[in-house]
Amino acid sequence: MRKLSAGCGSAVTGDSIAATKQRIRRVIAGSKVPEDPRHAENTLKWLLKLEPEADEALQIAALGHDIDRAVEARKVQRADFADYDAFKAAHALHSAVILKEIMDECGVARDITTEVYRLVCIHEIGGDPRADRLKDADAISYFDVNLPLYYARTGREETLRRCVWGYQRLSAQMRTVVENMTYEDHALNALLKQAVREAGAAVDAGNTIKHGAAAAGNIQEERNR
Ligand SMILES: [Fe+2]
Repeated sequence: MRKLSAGCGSAVTGDSIAATKQRIRRVIAGSKVPEDPRHAENTLKWLLKLEPEADEALQIAALGHDIDRAVEARKVQRADFADYDAFKAAHALHSAVILKEIMDECGVARDITTEVYRLVCIHEIGGDPRADRLKDADAISYFDVNLPLYYARTGREETLRRCVWGYQRLSAQMRTVVENMTYEDHALNALLKQAVREAGAAVDAGNTIKHGAAAAGNIQEERNR
């Protein structure tokens, strides 16, 4: 596996967290996806808003959960997956692997590295209070900062699909926040209303997102290596 370029030097334990965050920010700053740096910072901001006492593992996970998208030579490709949920599960696993490499190189304590890896592997689906918090911060951030750029890049149909999927990931509390969000572009407000309607109908019909089993399988597989 091709390694990321060096950059942590010989960080002493007390500096390893700061060095890791700095390294994550540097990698994400190079992403070809324009919304990535903003989304990373905004997810961390939402995490701290939802949980002001969030520990370092949760903070690193929030900042770096999508780092896979910034590593062009190794990133998971959407075109390689027929199923969007399978693609997202692979993306989550690959982001966790990259973060582990960075944390190992920066000398982060094993318990923190293990927890970041675990959290990022399941950040799309949650599953316990800490993972659910990360998922909520990530999901709300898409609507807060990604959506306008995603719309400009991918168009209405794909953005609508992404919004329906993203709305279903949100907790009830955060769904209310999204429902009250407005954008300068009226077309986006109309799109969001439609997405909320369609996602609400899908939730009512019991058609929830379904990639939990695939992600859990991937985590187990990686741990067994
Ligand atoms: Fe994200």
